[in-house]
Amino acid sequence: MNSIVTGDFPYIHGFSADEQSRLVRQARMFESTLFSHIDYSGAKRLLEVGCGVGAQTEILLRRFPELHVTGVDRSSEQLAVAERNLGATAWCAQRYALQQADAADLPFAERSFDAAYLCWVLEHVPSPARGSAKFAAYSAPAPPHT
Ligand SMILES: C[S@@+](CC[C@H](N)C(=O)[O-])C[C@H]1O[C@@H](n2cnc3c(N)ncnc32)[C@H](O)[C@@H]1O
Repeated sequence: MNSIVTGDFPYIHGFSADEQSRLVRQARMFESTLFSHIDYSGAKRLLEVGCGVGAQTEILLRRFPELHVTGVDRSSEQLAVAERNLGATAWCAQRYALQQADAADLPFAERSFDAAYLCWVLEHVPSPARGSAKFAAYSAPAPPHT
């Protein structure tokens, strides 16, 4: 039985091992559809909000070999599994950083990144529109020098 496992904060899907492996299956199932519309070639530093167990992180790093991904998640349980999954994947080595943070209060300066990605996350964030605007600001390109 897939029971809800409570963790650091209330989260509808919980943090059971079944749920964590579901995230990996889900990411792979939707990969070709989703990434047929996404192109990060040219980006170097990507912020992934709500990276979970690193299922999308692995895909990003595999598809875009120039990328470094900073994955943040509110859950220490998810991040521990992300570290295990990505640490066991050769092409991810030294190309990611994981950090515990709330999407509503990210510890980054604007323009710290040149791209941002989130998937299956906004429905868990209290103010999705405000959050999206902030994620865009973290990843906005610097204005041209005059
Ligand atoms: C459905 S999972 C998706 C994970 C990953 N994006 C993927 O597609 O595999 C949602 C993730 O958002 C995280 N999350 C929920 N609320 C959050 C918040 N306020 N700030 C950061 N992460 C949050 C959860 O811990 C969970 O890992």
